[in-house]
Amino acid sequence: MSEKKRIAVLVSGGGTNLQALIDAEKAGKLTSGEIAVVIASKPGVFALERAAKAGVEGICVERKAFSSKEDFEKALLSELSARKIDVLVLAGFMLVLSESFIKSFPDRIVNVHPALIPSFCGDGFYGLHVHERALEYGVKVTGATVHFVNEITDGGAIILQKAVPIPEGISAENLQQLVMKEAEHILLPQAVELLCAGKLKRDGRRVLITE
Ligand code: GAR
Repeated sequence: MSEKKRIAVLVSGGGTNLQALIDAEKAGKLTSGEIAVVIASKPGVFALERAAKAGVEGICVERKAFSSKEDFEKALLSELSARKIDVLVLAGFMLVLSESFIKSFPDRIVNVHPALIPSFCGDGFYGLHVHERALEYGVKVTGATVHFVNEITDGGAIILQKAVPIPEGISAENLQQLVMKEAEHILLPQAVELLCAGKLKRDGRRVLITE
């Protein structure tokens, strides 16, 4: 059996998607990779408590501690290489990484986005805002997307998507919870397992799932 890929999960907040990955690993649904470290962009976020509770190393590389993005990313890269990380998972990570950073992990960085890309995505579309905009627009179906990260915000090749019908009269907060439960928390561990198992093949923008 080939060695497990070493995964870093990058977070900025509550970490429910991180929890889904931790639970998947415990349940034997994520077997081709192991969560080696959780890296928070802010101190004191609840995701770090989730990591501690699961016995996973959690560290903070605070954006604010660096005067430039370049220095921040240098520090991030050195933490990643010190731990021989193979795969990066952005799970509610609210910073945009530079093209040169992304090039250090070609097709090895994935992000979960709470909408069906190319709808409700790009700069300014994050967290609750995404659901507010979907409700304002009046769409009847939304969902989640897991995609590779490239230099364009939410612009990388799509790995998995799942649709969620929008119940009439739902609030943005409740829609966020619904999309997390029905789509994000299911798709993210699946996509990470596929990536770590080497089952994703690129054909231009298309990502094929191989067996
Ligand atoms: C999730 O809904 C995730 O898709 C979203 O932030 C939330 C984080 O929740 N990410 C983005 O909007 C990125 N564009 P979590 O911290 O509980 O996983």
